[in-house]
Amino acid sequence: MKPNILVTGGAGFIGSHVVRLFLNKYPDYNIYNLDLLTYAGNLENLKDLENKKNYHFLKEDICNFHKIKAIFIKYKITHVIHLAAESHVDRSIKDPFSFAQTNIMGTLSLLQAAKDVWANNFKNKLFYHISTDEVFGSLGKEGSFSETSPYEPHSPYSASKASSDHFVRAFSDTYGLPIVISNCSNNYGPYQFPEKLIPLFINNILKNKSLPVYGNGENIRDWLYVEDHARAIDVIFHNGKLSETYNIGGFNEWKNIDLIKILIKVVDKFLGNKAGTSVKLITYVKDRAGHDKRYAVDATKIKEELSWEPSLQFEEGIEKTIQWYLENDQWLENISSGAYQHYYEKKYNLNDN
Ligand code: NAD
Ligand code: TYD
Repeated sequence: MKPNILVTGGAGFIGSHVVRLFLNKYPDYNIYNLDLLTYAGNLENLKDLENKKNYHFLKEDICNFHKIKAIFIKYKITHVIHLAAESHVDRSIKDPFSFAQTNIMGTLSLLQAAKDVWANNFKNKLFYHISTDEVFGSLGKEGSFSETSPYEPHSPYSASKASSDHFVRAFSDTYGLPIVISNCSNNYGPYQFPEKLIPLFINNILKNKSLPVYGNGENIRDWLYVEDHARAIDVIFHNGKLSETYNIGGFNEWKNIDLIKILIKVVDKFLGNKAGTSVKLITYVKDRAGHDKRYAVDATKIKEELSWEPSLQFEEGIEKTIQWYLENDQWLENISSGAYQHYYEKKYNLNDN
């Protein structure tokens, strides 16, 4: 039987890569991309796939339970890959309600629809929930997050994702819903909305704008190229054990300030600028409230059990990413204009020309 897969949030950054990988690799699967097209959803991310016969776009809010249930019935959905979320920590600090609504209530609405429509006929069904390493909180100098690390979220974003993870497990424990969860570290790559560190800073270097470094720039993140995340999702979707959790990470920790210096070096090189030209753009700004110090993921389980590991070295991934943003300046332009720009200016109170 052909799977009918509901991918939520497929017009976002990671979702668009998941949709692309599945459509190209599995032409027999029907992919239903359900996305509300919030500020972060961009159908331009999927331009090359629009005409595929097995691709369908549905504009809908995951929180709208009755509509979601009707979609499960109408399209005979057999599998869910759930990525739709509010995903930016800084926005969650300003507006925690929308994060609770989308990330918790939206996930609950999808779970309940799957449970009701699948009606205990759970054979060949799967609810795959995509989550983040941020649910585990913040690390000191040593150690890394494993699948059994306790949940200790700090931001409204990570608290809402942690809550959604708990609901997913509760539906497995209570109703026997077939689920799997993965918790991934920071992603980077093409199509990332330019409010997250890497695309924001590439965009700002290109436009000769300030680079707002939070606090002292010593916070550490574990970076993974987005296509490697999509590959991990493919492997877990097909071979992951039901009810299990898999951590996904890049084995690739960077202090923000060191990463920023690499971005500057590579962008200056591509632009033909003298080495170090854009260092002057670095501007230390007030730290993010509750800023997690360090994330690092122990991805041994997925490596040993499912033979997945990152395919790209960081330097290679960063070069590919920067090259993509340079070649797709119109994509960036289309986003940089409009409401996002006003949000950005107000937020940092910076006077860029
Ligand atoms: P994103 O913000 O780029 O995309 C989110 C997508 O969800 C957008 O297309 C948006 O329109 C859609 N959406 C938001 N609210 C919706 C709603 N109510 N109904 C339907 N669609 C809605 O996010 P991303 O970076 O691609 O992250 C995708 C998922 O992966 C999220 O669940 C996130 O928590 C998780 N994750 C992200 C990272 C990362 O580094 N970006 C790392 C680990 C896990
Ligand atoms: P971000 O891309 O927002 O991801 P997350 O907060 O989910 O890890 O931020 C990555 C790191 O970069 C984080 O430590 C915050 C920092 N940062 C800045 O210093 N300046 C910025 O303008 C942004 C967006 C992030």
